[in-house]
Amino acid sequence: MNTAIRAVTRTALQNGLEVTGIEQGYQGIFDKRFLELGPRDVGGVMQRGGTFLYTARCARFLNPVGRAEALENLRAAGIEALVIIGGNGSLTGGLELQRLGMPVVGLPGSIDNDLYGTDVAIGVDTCLNTILHAIDNIKDTASSHRRAFILEVMGRNSGYLALMSALSGGAEVAIIPEIPTDMEEVNRKLLAAFERGKSHFIIVVAEGAQLKTPVIYQYLCKNSSVEARVTILGHIQRGGAPSAFDRILATRLGYAAVQTVLEGKSGVMMGLSGNSVVATPLEEVISRPKPVDLVSFEMIKLLS
Ligand code: F6P
Repeated sequence: MNTAIRAVTRTALQNGLEVTGIEQGYQGIFDKRFLELGPRDVGGVMQRGGTFLYTARCARFLNPVGRAEALENLRAAGIEALVIIGGNGSLTGGLELQRLGMPVVGLPGSIDNDLYGTDVAIGVDTCLNTILHAIDNIKDTASSHRRAFILEVMGRNSGYLALMSALSGGAEVAIIPEIPTDMEEVNRKLLAAFERGKSHFIIVVAEGAQLKTPVIYQYLCKNSSVEARVTILGHIQRGGAPSAFDRILATRLGYAAVQTVLEGKSGVMMGLSGNSVVATPLEEVISRPKPVDLVSFEMIKLLS
């Protein structure tokens, strides 16, 4: 996100615009946490995870009276267009502001990668690399002990992280919210894998899957001859120095967001489709589901 803020700030400044950073998201509009940003204010931020502008949940923005007040504060601060980085909630708020007459361009910031309109959101690649590092480390100890491991990753309603980390980490099973799991089948697979000579068995589970981590663990303890352990990665997935891919993505999208504003367009989110930057109407972004990649699910089964 810092890389995106840098790209937005410097592109806008180079085009003769003034830039105001708003600290703590929508809450900052009420608290008037407006920060004038110059080119040096966004120096040295690319390698830092998180956001130097902070973020916050904001209940006040959820009702129309609050939003009208927010709009008034934005106008009083001389803000004529907004670039908003966030997930479904933030972009829904953005669409409401757009409807009230404030031009808004969105950037995808959802670690779950559940936003329609972009192949990948800012930060997701870095997160996947963190998970991969964990899978590699876990494989070492799992193999030494000949154990099964349940690795829980983020993903409230979306199995993207579990699916892609299982695929790229060579895990045996991905358990995700979008596809039902048969634990008997998982256990059969586990036993067959060890019979074939495997020394580890990694199950990557999305936190939002119907089958929760403790249930999976209890099932294996009760029904499997292979010993199991659990690792829950938690919020380490949402921090750390961004990968090269993420820095390039955030730069391209931030730059494109300002170009879009300069062209007089708004009400869209900039995203990546293949290798192209595309604009998708915010209405579609917040209402259309992002389909799960069934081919990846099949590949995990086939290749493990
Ligand atoms: O939606 C992104 C996400 O990271 C989910 O994967 C996770 O369930 C949730 O946010 C965690 O929220 P918080 O940081 O408020 O605990």
